[in-house]
Amino acid sequence: MLVFKGKTDARNWVLRRRCRGERVGLVPTMGALHEGHLQLVRKAVANCDRCVATIFVNPKQFAPDEDFARYPRTLQQDLDLLRSAGTAAVFVPDDHTMYSANASTFVQPPRIAQPWEGQYRPHHFQGVTTVVSKIFNILPVTHAFFGHKDFQQAIVIQRMNQELDFGIEIKIVATVRERDGLALSSRNRYLSVRQRQQAAGLFAALRGAHAVFATGQRQAVALEKTLRDTLAHHDITEIDYAVAVPAETLEPVPLLPEKTITLLAVRLGTTRLIDNLRLDEPLPAL
Ligand code: PAF
Repeated sequence: MLVFKGKTDARNWVLRRRCRGERVGLVPTMGALHEGHLQLVRKAVANCDRCVATIFVNPKQFAPDEDFARYPRTLQQDLDLLRSAGTAAVFVPDDHTMYSANASTFVQPPRIAQPWEGQYRPHHFQGVTTVVSKIFNILPVTHAFFGHKDFQQAIVIQRMNQELDFGIEIKIVATVRERDGLALSSRNRYLSVRQRQQAAGLFAALRGAHAVFATGQRQAVALEKTLRDTLAHHDITEIDYAVAVPAETLEPVPLLPEKTITLLAVRLGTTRLIDNLRLDEPLPAL
């Protein structure tokens, strides 16, 4: 597996592959890799001729009071995992390689970035669209793979890709879950034993809403009550949002369409967790 620190070497590697007509699949990450990331790599390996990953903890998508400084950095282990999952090359830039000291250009995210995460983390998506655009420009791949766990992020990137004509095929890959349903996340490692038990409440809430939706209930308030009651049952009281919205717009409506998604963001101590579930699709097997 090749490891690139510089932009030119990384770009040239992708361009050489593209000149040979190869399909190159990108998996952008912030490191601290887990099975969810490896699932993205496996999809890239299965769908493309080569997989290239990136590891970069992007300072521009964290607010000053967020966890940028304590975000887990496990580079050697990450490289070993990527290699064993079949990654051909990894781009591991440092902050100065990605951003010049006085960089002042940002990519304005599409409108769908405004609710939910956009409301609770006001500059987050601008940081994401800026860094992902840069990565798309540095690594002109054919395909890019993002996790369903960050559903709003994946849709924001899909829209940006479409509206700014990057011409990359964006694939959204199913969330990988623990046995009790907790979605894998690099931030799960912050949880205490007690918080880890409470965290099972997120999937319990999603599954509860899924069951109610399956009975034909389409009132958003009814589904949101199920979400909140289940979270309360697991002693989760700090809720940023717990909503059921149309999967295509993410805008609140009183009466839900068939393609509906539930979105959750909660806080357990200083750790913020998000998750989601499509209500019109079969429950994932655990
Ligand atoms: O999902 C992530 O890990 C990050 O937001 C991403 C897409 C790698 C951009 O920094």
